[in-house]
Amino acid sequence: MDWSDALARGGAAEFDGDAEKNGMMPLRRAAARLLSCGVKDICVGSSATELLCSVAWAVSPQDGSNIVSTKASFPSTVYPWTRVADANGAEVRLADHNLDLYTDPEDIISLIDENTSVVTLSHVEFSSGQRYNLRRFADAAHSVGAMLVVDATQSMGMVPIDAKSSGADVIVSSGYKWLRGTYGAAVAYISPSVCSGMYPGLLGFRSHDDIWDLRAERMTLPSDASRFEYTTIHFGAALGLAKAVDEICEIGIQEVWEHDLALADKVIEGANRLGLSIVSSITEEERSAIVSLRMPEGVSSEAIARRLQDEYSILVTSRAGLLRVSPHIDNSTEEVGMLFDALEKLLS
Ligand SMILES: Cc1ncc(COP(=O)(O)O)c(C=O)c1O
Repeated sequence: MDWSDALARGGAAEFDGDAEKNGMMPLRRAAARLLSCGVKDICVGSSATELLCSVAWAVSPQDGSNIVSTKASFPSTVYPWTRVADANGAEVRLADHNLDLYTDPEDIISLIDENTSVVTLSHVEFSSGQRYNLRRFADAAHSVGAMLVVDATQSMGMVPIDAKSSGADVIVSSGYKWLRGTYGAAVAYISPSVCSGMYPGLLGFRSHDDIWDLRAERMTLPSDASRFEYTTIHFGAALGLAKAVDEICEIGIQEVWEHDLALADKVIEGANRLGLSIVSSITEEERSAIVSLRMPEGVSSEAIARRLQDEYSILVTSRAGLLRVSPHIDNSTEEVGMLFDALEKLLS
C-alpha cells in the first residue's frame, strides 16, 4: 500500500529507475532465506502460472518425449506443459487417483521412462493436501535424465523446504496462499545446475542483464535465475510478499509447520467427533495442513462452506465436493473448535 501511494503521489519521481531495477530484491532475498538457497537462485514473477509457462517453454520437451504428472494436480501445474506438448508433439502422462483423490506415488514413478523429460508435481495437492516426497521424485526423474519441476503454491510457507536437498530443479510458488501475500506476485527457485541452459519462454526489456541499456538488437540474459524476470510487475505485491515471507522466516518455518500440523490434528479430532470421513492422507510422510472432509450423504460441501462464512465468519473452501480446511499461523486451536461447533449445528 505504501508503494501504491508513493506511485500515485510521485510516479517515477519516487519509484525511480534504480528502485525499479532493484524492485525484486527484497522478495528474492526473503524467498532465498525461506528455501535456504542463494539469492541468485530466486526470481520473481506475477503468478505461479506465468513462471511455470516460461519454464515449460524453456524446457520445451520435444516430439517423442513425455511429461509426467498427476490428475489430481491443480490445472495450472499441468496446463503449461500441455501447451508446450501440443506445440512439440510431446506426451503428457497423468497418474490417476482413487475416490479419495489419493495418488499412489508408485503410479507416478511407473509412468517415468527413458523418454521422460520432466516430472512435474504439486508438492501438496490442492484438493486432498497429499504431500509428495520431493527427494524421491527428484531421484526418479534424474535417473532418466529428466527434470523435477515443483509447484509449491500449496506448500511453501507451510512445509519446510530446503531447495538444494529437495533435489528439485525448479520450485515455483504463488504468493497468495500459504506465503500470505496478495495477488500479483510469485517466486521461483531455479537450480544453478539447470539455470544457464534455460532460455525463458517469456522475454521483455528486463530480460537483458543491464535493464536500462535499452537496445533491441541484442540481448544478454543474466546468468542467474533473474533471467526469468522480463517485465514490470505490480512491485507493491512483490514488496508486500517479501514482508510476509520475512515474517514467516522470523517465526521460523519449522515452528509454522508444527503449529499448522497441531491445528490439522484438531481438525482430524473434530471430524472424528462428528463422524465425518477424512479424505486426506494423514500419514506422517504424506500429510499437510490441508484436511479435506466428506460431508454426509446428501449434504453439499458448497452450501456448508457458504453458511460457515455467512453465519459464522469461518472461511473454509469447497473443493471437488469436499470441505477443505486449511488452518495456518493466523489460526488458533480455539478457532478450530469454533469450526466444529458450527459444523455440528449446521449438520444437525
Ligand atoms: C497448486 C497451485 N498452483 C497454482 C495456483 C495458481 O497460482 P497463480 O494464480 O499464481 O497462477 C494455485 C491456486 O490455487 C494452486 O493451488
